Amino acid sequence: MRTKVIAGNWKMNKDLSESAELINGLKSKLATMPNGVKAIVCPPFVSLALAKELLKGSPIELGAQNMYFEDEGAFTGEVSAKMLKSVGCKYVILGHSERRQYFKESDEFINTKAKKTLASGLIPIICVGETLQEREKNITNQVVTTQVAGCLKGISAFDIEKSIIAYEPVWAIGTGKVATPQQAQDVHKLIRGLIAQLYGPATAEKVVIQYGGSVKPDNAKELMHQPDIDGALVGGACLKADSFAAIVLAAA
Ligand code: PGA
Repeated sequence: MRTKVIAGNWKMNKDLSESAELINGLKSKLATMPNGVKAIVCPPFVSLALAKELLKGSPIELGAQNMYFEDEGAFTGEVSAKMLKSVGCKYVILGHSERRQYFKESDEFINTKAKKTLASGLIPIICVGETLQEREKNITNQVVTTQVAGCLKGISAFDIEKSIIAYEPVWAIGTGKVATPQQAQDVHKLIRGLIAQLYGPATAEKVVIQYGGSVKPDNAKELMHQPDIDGALVGGACLKADSFAAIVLAAA
């Protein structure tokens, strides 16, 4: 049985005091984690140190929303893997569709970051997913196949087993339009099949593949019940302790 991993992507939300309030709320609601379930919060960079401090003794883990692949130097505005580790992060989201759309991140760029993440001992949550236009053109499988192949290029089987893939149909992100469990399962199965082709079925069986896109307490259970859906990457619903905790508990 694969662990169910629920990650909350706070995006550009919550200042320092709001971050503290949300973390404290989550800590009390998720004082113990159900068996076989992991919960991760990914606050903005500026709240990471505080989050680490507040999460001491809590089973909730910490992740970041992005990272640059260089160790240090003249890269204004960027944050390195070493910095994220020093602040207590274990995970980092890479290639979120908003990064792809607004900051023009390519599969190749995401791949470089993923390799650096793994070499640094962090776990990448690598995001893939088609736009509405691509789904309507019936090229979802093609798009996702290209993204998976591009993002995983040159990553070893050893490293892929530890990595997390998040399938997030762009049309479902922040829109309230969730993929049906079957639509999501079909793409998750495709992704696991691609990993099996690249690394063999035993490796593919171990990889956690999250679904993301309008996951809410009332649809989480059914989605995560699908054989190839191993958790969720949650945006809007992770900004309130009640709804994020309910999604985590729905994974049990
Ligand atoms: P959403 O966002 O849950 O608000 O749709 C998901 C995501 O972008 O990871």
